[in-house]
Amino acid sequence: MSNTPAASSDHGQVVPNLPSETEPLLGRAGAVRQLDDAPFWKNLFLGTGFLAQIGLLILTLTVWCSIFSLPLGLFTFHPLFNSLGVLLVFEAILLLQPTHTSSQKVNGAITHSILTGLSLLLLVGAGVTIVLNKIRIKHAHFDSTHAILGLVVYILVLAQTIVGFAQFYAPHVFGSVENAKAIYKYHRIAGYTIQLLLVATLLAASRTTFALGPLDFKTWKVAIGSSLVVLGVFPRIKKEKLGFKRQ
Ligand code: HEM
Repeated sequence: MSNTPAASSDHGQVVPNLPSETEPLLGRAGAVRQLDDAPFWKNLFLGTGFLAQIGLLILTLTVWCSIFSLPLGLFTFHPLFNSLGVLLVFEAILLLQPTHTSSQKVNGAITHSILTGLSLLLLVGAGVTIVLNKIRIKHAHFDSTHAILGLVVYILVLAQTIVGFAQFYAPHVFGSVENAKAIYKYHRIAGYTIQLLLVATLLAASRTTFALGPLDFKTWKVAIGSSLVVLGVFPRIKKEKLGFKRQ
């Protein structure tokens, strides 16, 4: 372990110790930190964040290329709104992860709540359109892995958003601010679990009959995009914030 003092990298992140020869190229897991005077948007790309951005671009373009290659209809809104909702969920977490001073955390939490709130509206809209579309074409509901996973994800996102908003904007609901803060750990664990489920739901969407047929929504493209997103987001997790001790 080096004893050198804190330093800032070219990407604007604070690296507590200067990287040694044994240091990973993209920095140690969980080490990304926003600089005091750095703009928020840079958090989206810090450390492995740029990998997540490439993955999100691939996922979004893959969905859009598939849906806009077919005649537009009620169904179009399902993947369109879902792709935007998924994009916002990931940007909301990428933005928040590197915050560490109290002002950054407050501004980050407000922006995070706006993005996740918008995302919830988009996901609800996507869910309503697919149910309406299935009613219209008289098709059975929740009869595929994608449909069941998707329903679970919608319910979890709704619960996570309600609890998250209450924790930040109405902490007295939990009895005290301390009580509300004490369950942030579970909000984080649930948030990362939901992200994995969202990725799994997208992969399952590529295996539906419609995706394998006219939509031509390719599993390998979703797999590449999803892998990059996971590789971009998960190494930036600060394990101690999930309640696990730093090694
Ligand atoms: C993470 C985002 C997504 C979620 C949470 C989700 C959720 C759902 C749900 C709950 C249903 C079932 C509705 C019902 O049975 O009444 C469904 C159906 C469907 N979704 Fe998605 N979806 C997502 C993304 C996508 C994407 C990106 C596509 C295509 C590119 C897609 C294509 C379909 C198709 C074709 C169906 C009808 C076939 C089936 O139910 O198996 N979905 N989705």
